[in-house]
Amino acid sequence: MSDSHNFFDLTGKTAVVTGASRGLGQFLARALARAGADLVITARDAEDCAAFRAEMAALGRTVVALPLDVRDPASIESFADTAMDAVERVDILVNNAGCNVRKPSVDITWDDWNLVLDTNLRGMFFVSQAIAKRSMIPNGYGRVVNIGSYTTVAGFAGLAPYCASRGGVRQMTMALADDWGIHGITVNCLSPGWFKTEQNKVLYEDTEWVEYLCDRIPLKRPGQPQDLDGTVVFLASDASEYVTGQNLLVDGGISTGATRALPKKRGSRTAPARSP
Ligand SMILES: NC(=O)c1ccc[n+]([C@@H]2O[C@H](COP(=O)([O-])OP(=O)(O)OC[C@H]3O[C@@H](n4cnc5c(N)ncnc54)[C@H](OP(=O)(O)O)[C@@H]3O)[C@@H](O)[C@H]2O)c1
Repeated sequence: MSDSHNFFDLTGKTAVVTGASRGLGQFLARALARAGADLVITARDAEDCAAFRAEMAALGRTVVALPLDVRDPASIESFADTAMDAVERVDILVNNAGCNVRKPSVDITWDDWNLVLDTNLRGMFFVSQAIAKRSMIPNGYGRVVNIGSYTTVAGFAGLAPYCASRGGVRQMTMALADDWGIHGITVNCLSPGWFKTEQNKVLYEDTEWVEYLCDRIPLKRPGQPQDLDGTVVFLASDASEYVTGQNLLVDGGISTGATRALPKKRGSRTAPARSP
């Protein structure tokens, strides 16, 4: 390996990014494509990826958009077969598809619970298995990046099923890392903190809540989707070759605990400079 090897170069690699019809999935896929990766992007209706697919193709990448419902085992199998027909191999899998139900725990229904757990945890497992079996294990190479959340390490009122699913994602990440390390596959969890997207925009309509949030984040602002670029490329690239089973929080530091332990100085809180 020469001194000038670019550890973050993804040229020649193919990445599957699930849930790329909107939100963080598009930002994660864009970061990988800018680092050189070709893409397989998914949504339940592949047409919802059409505009994004065109944008990525304009970067000069090969981009395939396929339908995938991670709650449906037949859809997972058919997606994985079609993906393998379309691309030579899958080197990188970013398990981003996910959902949330925000309700007090006493109001959560059986169906709410199943929706969140089936999507965020069971779906992630079986998509990983389908891609590992067909491509990563036979090729002896893979980078699996499971999108977690700050809720992998913290619990919040109103988010019980979501927190349970993300705690599960963290544990599953460690188990898969142990299972598949022998095949040259790393499995890590990328856990965003508070980012403003479609899934949680209702919270950001409340300015008092945004101020409360920023006060608790050491870097004093919510995340912007581009804040994930460097970390997803790191976990997808040669740079993270000896990193597996880890949960990397990209959260502006809120997981430090971020409860004020000193009296508040007047004017000490800097304004959220890049707040969306
Ligand atoms: N926003 C945040 O602050 C934040 C923080 C931490 C973690 N996360 C996690 O990051 C991921 C992306 O979040 P986001 O805010 O971008 O969410 P979003 O805007 O709601 O997008 C969710 C994506 O997942 C896909 N999806 C949902 N259900 C699916 C299913 N059954 N099968 C296949 N795809 C499905 C959606 O595609 P279709 O609906 O088009 O099928 C969409 O592309 C989620 O897993 C979320 O939990 C978000």
